[in-house]
Amino acid sequence: MGNLKPFIAGNWKMFKTCNEAVETAKKLVLFSADVTEVDVMIAPPFTSLAPVSEILKHSDISLGAQDIFWESEGAYTGEISPPMLLSAGCKHVIIGHSERRQYFNETDQTVNKKISAAVHHHLSPIFCVGETERQRESKETFSVLDKQIQNGLRGISSDDMKEVIVAYEPVWAIGTGKTATSEQVQEIHQFIRSLLERSFGSVLAKSIRILYGGSVKPTNVKELMSMKDVNGALVGGASLNPETFSDIIHNYK
Ligand code: PGA
Repeated sequence: MGNLKPFIAGNWKMFKTCNEAVETAKKLVLFSADVTEVDVMIAPPFTSLAPVSEILKHSDISLGAQDIFWESEGAYTGEISPPMLLSAGCKHVIIGHSERRQYFNETDQTVNKKISAAVHHHLSPIFCVGETERQRESKETFSVLDKQIQNGLRGISSDDMKEVIVAYEPVWAIGTGKTATSEQVQEIHQFIRSLLERSFGSVLAKSIRILYGGSVKPTNVKELMSMKDVNGALVGGASLNPETFSDIIHNYK
């Protein structure tokens, strides 16, 4: 886990209506009131951001969005800008999730534009990277991650990098119940940190939190988080139920 404050984030994906999101957030606030040693974030769908933000006001849980557009305003039907996310109470934004890369034509270039826009507006990006099963089998994991990281962070200054959180999510482990072993995860996280070191120097690289995501559950979080370069978790399915997510937050060490 290293000595950075752990960060545990829940990505609710396309689940929950406004009422359901508010009810879940209320329970989570209650269940996690005693948590001080870990930063907790939830990312509901866009439609629930503002009402959930009201619920989180009196808690330490922060709010994140699941995507962003890079322009501040304009004729871009359906898109949501950085100032809009800030006005809805967001502190963070997930960028480059593999589901967006896979189903919505997200590329390293659009990811880069989104990260630049987010840091410009002081929204902290959770920058997702990860290889597919085919890429892992053909031993391309390291080159894929190298490319995603170099292209995704192109032009990002060291100062802006202080706001960035990286999430390693092997695509084959997302929503599949297949978790990478803690050794596999540590190996990749160490590699990602070495890439960050190459671009931003070792002091800054050591201060960047690298989360693991992919079938994180209350039963495996502790083992994963015990690894030196794992500084938190990005949780999908298991963050939808407030009891389960609270167990993850409580059981990480
Ligand atoms: P999962 O999703 O926990 O359901 O595997 C993780 C993610 O997509 O962020």
